[in-house]
Amino acid sequence: MADAQEVMMVVARLLLWLVATVYFFLESLVLCLVPRSYRRKDIKGNIVLVTGGGSGIGRLMCLKLAAKGAVVVTWDVSEAGNGETVQQVQAAGGQCHAYTVDLCDRQAVYAAATRLKQEVGNVDILVNNAGVVTGKSLMNSPDDSIQRTFDVNVLAHFWTTKAFMGHMLARNKGHIVNIASMAGKIVCTGLVDYCSSKHAAVGFHEALQTELKMMGKYGVKTTCVCPGIISTGMFQGAGSKFFPTLKPDWVAEEVVDAILMNTSTLYLPNYMWLMPLQIMLFPQKSMDMLGNILEMQDFMKNFVGRSKTN
Ligand SMILES: NC(=O)c1ccc[n+]([C@@H]2O[C@H](COP(=O)([O-])OP(=O)(O)OC[C@H]3O[C@@H](n4cnc5c(N)ncnc54)[C@H](O)[C@@H]3O)[C@@H](O)[C@H]2O)c1
Repeated sequence: MADAQEVMMVVARLLLWLVATVYFFLESLVLCLVPRSYRRKDIKGNIVLVTGGGSGIGRLMCLKLAAKGAVVVTWDVSEAGNGETVQQVQAAGGQCHAYTVDLCDRQAVYAAATRLKQEVGNVDILVNNAGVVTGKSLMNSPDDSIQRTFDVNVLAHFWTTKAFMGHMLARNKGHIVNIASMAGKIVCTGLVDYCSSKHAAVGFHEALQTELKMMGKYGVKTTCVCPGIISTGMFQGAGSKFFPTLKPDWVAEEVVDAILMNTSTLYLPNYMWLMPLQIMLFPQKSMDMLGNILEMQDFMKNFVGRSKTN
């Protein structure tokens, strides 16, 4: 049982926490008012690895990061996609290296990491972007697809982070970015494996962020990105008339800005942060009704994904 002195100490610390919380709210408010151009860090000469840089927002991020002066590296299972990215970045005057890597293969990830360090250098910013989607109900999802979804969407984050974070910890400087999804915050029918893997990716980001703070490594930043649907082709055919389909170029621009401003969590569109809050506050049956009104049961009805479009 705590004695009176201990209780007083806890009360005093809670009061201090309340004052600090008000300060942190005000700090966020002031930061919102400061123009972005004053908040961006300089990444000139930084080595930035983007997984899944062979298409979609990965390629666009490579282009935008290279335009900021970073030395960009793309890792993709698609050699052709990687080649196209290198060609586009170089044509725009940037530096880009490509490695064909299957992120499902842990040993291949570690081998590629060793080569990258020898041939290009240590990674300053790691962007875990590659992702896959099965797009079928759980009972119709082949076991291999479920396994692949977890391998690419979350387990690969462990291997890449373990491969590159040592250098960041030693310098207390670096950045680990995880491209998750709104499917990592809310759920949707026809996406059980995808939602589970993206919830795990969000958990990975939050747990890693906490661990870094506990270690006192405040110089190693983390960013988690949770976008809604983007018109890259990955979710071709899926969507809802009640939610906007995001333009890939805008998403890539926002993600790069979030990296440069050390944003912890980025929701796209920004107002999507309300949805997880709503789920916490509202009764389950009320959320089920809202889901029906917004026709969420039809979200994946016309999904074709990349399989039929490419
Ligand atoms: N498109 C959307 O609607 C949407 C919405 C929210 C989040 N996201 C997430 O954004 C990220 C990028 O998606 P995108 O829309 O640009 O998709 P995309 O399909 O255009 O790009 C994904 C890239 O990952 C690569 N990849 C897949 N499996 C791989 C593997 N085993 N090893 C190496 N590379 C592999 C692909 O070759 C591809 O180049 C993904 O993590 C995705 O889950 C996408």
